[in-house]
Amino acid sequence: MGFHDSPNGIACDAVPLARLAEAEGTPLHVYAAGIVRHRFRAFDAAFKTNPHAVHYALKANSTLGVLRLLHSLGSAVDANSGGEIDVALRAGFTPSQIIFTGVGKRAEELTKAVSLGLRAINAESAGELDRIDAIAAAHGRTAAVALRVNPDIDVMSHPHISTGTRRNKFGVALSEAPAICREAAARRGLRLVGIHVHIGSQIVKVDPLRRAAATAVELARMLTSQGIPIEHVDVGGGVGISYDGTAGLDLAEYAAALLGELKGSGLALVLEPGRFIVGPAGVLVSRVVDVKSYPDGRTFVVLDAGMTECLRPALYGARHRVSPVATHVGTPSAVDVVGPVCESSDSFGADHRLPPLKVDDLVAILDTGAYGASMASNYNRRPIAAEVLVEDGTWTLIRRRQTVEAMLAQEV
Ligand code: LLP
Repeated sequence: MGFHDSPNGIACDAVPLARLAEAEGTPLHVYAAGIVRHRFRAFDAAFKTNPHAVHYALKANSTLGVLRLLHSLGSAVDANSGGEIDVALRAGFTPSQIIFTGVGKRAEELTKAVSLGLRAINAESAGELDRIDAIAAAHGRTAAVALRVNPDIDVMSHPHISTGTRRNKFGVALSEAPAICREAAARRGLRLVGIHVHIGSQIVKVDPLRRAAATAVELARMLTSQGIPIEHVDVGGGVGISYDGTAGLDLAEYAAALLGELKGSGLALVLEPGRFIVGPAGVLVSRVVDVKSYPDGRTFVVLDAGMTECLRPALYGARHRVSPVATHVGTPSAVDVVGPVCESSDSFGADHRLPPLKVDDLVAILDTGAYGASMASNYNRRPIAAEVLVEDGTWTLIRRRQTVEAMLAQEV
């Protein structure tokens, strides 16, 4: 299952990546359905002793083919925009399977969420609760809401993907949360069902995640004891994966920590994992378009994939492993692997130890299933890459490569 070596180089579920590249071109996102299935089931099973729901974070990868697979597995979703709500509905999710989070929700997005009757809107401020209440009243509805609290916990992840400290724009201060909740519980248009926390992404230590969950549970318990019955705590996402081949955060340890905090509370648990489910399920297959060495010995391997297909290195200094697709012989040496975009930050990093590569060779950039395709752009007028989902020795094209006509379709 998944990615493995074969006589024809790296393969995905017995389909050589080289064959996929030939059939669909490069750059190409390749997803292993078996890995998504396995990781979703393992994640879900880890919490089976407590009522819970896994609301997969759509922002990690919301290509319809991937979403339909997650839907078939029994996942629910966390949407971050009206667009993500629409995509989830098209993939077959019902409103009761959708939670709506987002630091800046437009009036029409809130109206859509209220009219659909989503499982919960995770509200980010007292003002937003007012607006949801007004919209609900105008539509004769009651909106299920959760309040996002900012527990002021530093997760020591990259500053761009840390969200749970006072310096960040997300949620309300913990000290103000009880009063805001009491006010919300008194509103006719609102039904306060949950407390939400999400402190960041690619978190590789359990303790900050445990502390954030503990904060939410404590607040929920206090409100319940004061006659404001809270149904669930939503602990967000953030579970990190390994990008360098070492062991990542231990799922069993994470689950045990959360379940420990919930014990005896009677609260249901909502989880919003993104990266954990799909990150290791994807690779980005790319062709070498140039190789050059400077007199000082530095060698650049230039790929046909770059920040337009995988923004993470440029935006967060993230490091993804790069692997030649064919079984190469030759002594590895340290090279810079770079993209074709006119930005110096368009680089997969220096000192990748790779065997000698030449133009037209294929490489795979690993662990790009999360925040790869979903963060793509047309910068430098590069068409959005194709995506394939591989299962049982065969593949399905789930996104065609964008044409120039499609890229220009909205321009007048
Ligand atoms: N829930 C909320 C409210 C979120 O904001 C996020 C991610 C998640 C769940 C899912 O987090 P995960 O389980 O995937 O860590 N583009 C960045 C990551 C940004 C994450 C934003 N929020 C990256 O490529 O590292």
